[in-house]
Amino acid sequence: MSVPASITLEIESLNVEETEALGAALGAQLDPGDVVCLEGDLGAGKTALVRGVGRGWGVLERVTSPTFTLVHEHRRTQDDRVLYHVDCYRLERAADAWSLGLEEMLHSTDNVVLEWPERVAEMLPDGRLWIEFEIGDDTRRTLRVSASEDRYAHLIEALRSRVAG
Ligand SMILES: Nc1ncnc2c1ncn2[C@@H]1O[C@H](COP(=O)(O)OP(=O)(O)OP(=O)(O)O)[C@@H](O)[C@H]1O
Ligand SMILES: [Mg+2]
Repeated sequence: MSVPASITLEIESLNVEETEALGAALGAQLDPGDVVCLEGDLGAGKTALVRGVGRGWGVLERVTSPTFTLVHEHRRTQDDRVLYHVDCYRLERAADAWSLGLEEMLHSTDNVVLEWPERVAEMLPDGRLWIEFEIGDDTRRTLRVSASEDRYAHLIEALRSRVAG
């Protein structure tokens, strides 16, 4: 699916706090069913962003790296919605994703944030926000954000306003 130029955004993050703040701006605006894909090398800052997403969305406990569990499930009290934080790094085959119940998560009214989404490419819905992280000098990270459908454009706007201050 082609992405209209108007719904892409490139952001420079200078430190981990900035990445978390971007995540929080995003998390606060997630609509039911929104899916966010985070692509980037080891240590790029995907989990850091998810920490912010959790904060903005309303996770009470600390969001940690799902190193031993592939799926972290957070439920918030106000509307009983669930935020799934899924790390696909160690998924060997699509069959593993099936057994995790990923398909249902991705097509529910809950929110899903995926690290290493390219490992489950064939399972991803057409509609999603995609953020590609590039590691730069020192603590600089470039985040390239794109929306595959209009319904995700407001998330890009939320990030744009955050960057504009
Ligand atoms: N601008 C930045 N944004 C995010 N993290 C940064 C930034 N600068 C430095 N860091 C550091 O980079 C590391 C990012 O780690 P994080 O666990 O978020 O990466 P990840 O992309 O989730 O990696 P993995 O693929 O291993 O899960 C942290 O140690 C963080 O402090
Ligand atoms: Mg991570």
